[in-house]
Amino acid sequence: MKKLEEKRIFITGRNGQLGKALVARYPDATAKGRDEFDITDINQVKAISWSDYDVIINAAAYVNADHSETKEGREMSWSANAVGPRNLAEVAIANNINLIHVSSEYVFDGTLQNHEEGEIFTPLSVYGQTKAAGDIAVSLVPKHYTLRTSWVIGEGHNFVKTMNNLANLRVDPKVVNDQFGRLTFASEIVRAIEHLLENDVESGTYNISNDGPIKSWAEIAAEVFELAGHDKSRVKFITTDEYKKDKQPFAPRPTYSDLNLLKIQKTGFESHDYEPLLKDYIDSLERS
Ligand SMILES: NC(=O)c1ccc[n+]([C@@H]2O[C@H](COP(=O)([O-])OP(=O)(O)OC[C@H]3O[C@@H](n4cnc5c(N)ncnc54)[C@H](OP(=O)(O)O)[C@@H]3O)[C@@H](O)[C@H]2O)c1
Repeated sequence: MKKLEEKRIFITGRNGQLGKALVARYPDATAKGRDEFDITDINQVKAISWSDYDVIINAAAYVNADHSETKEGREMSWSANAVGPRNLAEVAIANNINLIHVSSEYVFDGTLQNHEEGEIFTPLSVYGQTKAAGDIAVSLVPKHYTLRTSWVIGEGHNFVKTMNNLANLRVDPKVVNDQFGRLTFASEIVRAIEHLLENDVESGTYNISNDGPIKSWAEIAAEVFELAGHDKSRVKFITTDEYKKDKQPFAPRPTYSDLNLLKIQKTGFESHDYEPLLKDYIDSLERS
C-alpha cells in the first residue's frame, strides 16, 4: 500500500473553505475550482486521466441552504450536491479510486440530540435532501470516506466571520438560541482525512466536528463578541420562529446538530476542542 505522501490526490472545490484548507495541506495535489472543473458536468469529469490518481477529495458543494429552497437554488443544490457526487462516484468505481466526500448534519431532522453515523436520513430542507442523495451515491464506491460535518469555519464566508464583522460595525445582531451544535474548523476535517488515509481506516461514513461544549448559535455569537473585545450583551437571543418571520427564503434547520465523534475516535483520532481555535481565529480576523 502507498504511503500518504505517495498518493496522488485530486481536490475539487479548491476555492471553498475546506478546499483552501486542503490545498494548504496538500500543495502538490491537483486542485480545481468550479471554473476549471465543474463536478456536475459528466463530460468534464470523464475527461480527466483518472488512472493518474489514487484519491479524490470532493470539497465542492452548493451550501446555501436558504437559496436552495428557491427554483434556481433547487437546481443548483441538486446538481452540485447529488449529481456531482454521483459523477465522481462513477469514475471512482471505474478507476478504483478512494473517494472522500463531505456531508452535513442537515441530512437529519435534528430531533435526536446526538447524531450517530447510522441514523436514518430525515432531511427537512432541499439542501439536506440533496446532501443525503450525494451520500447515497458515494456509498456505492467500494473505497470511500464520507465525512459528516456541521457548522464549518474556515477561510471564506461563515457565521463567526459575520458576527465578528457585525461586532466591529457596531451592529447588534439577533441570533437564534434554539439550534445547538459545535463548530468545525476546516483544519479538523483536514486532520480527519489525513488520519483516515494514513491509517487506511475501514471505508464508510465518519462524523467529524471539533470537540467542546454544545452551544446555541446565539451563545457562540456572544462568545465571538467577547473574544473580539465587545460587549456580548449586544447579541440579542431570539427563537428560530422569530428569526424566520423576516427571512425569505428560509430553509428549516435541525434543532440539534451535535455529531457523535466516537466512531472516528475509536480508530485513534484525537479530536481538538473548538474553543482555543475560535480564539485564534478571531485574533487572525482582527489582525487581517
Ligand atoms: N459550511 C458549512 O457550515 C457546512 C456545514 C455542514 C457541511 N458542510 C459541507 O462541507 C463541505 C465544504 O463546505 P465549505 O464550507 O467549504 O463550502 P464553500 O466554502 O461554499 O465551498 C464550496 C466550493 O464548492 C464550489 N462548487 C460549487 N458548485 C460546484 C460545482 N458544480 N463544481 C465544482 N465546484 C463547485 C464552490 O465554488 P463557487 O464559490 O465558485 O460556487 C465553492 O468554492 C461541503 O460538502 C458542505 O456541504 C458545510
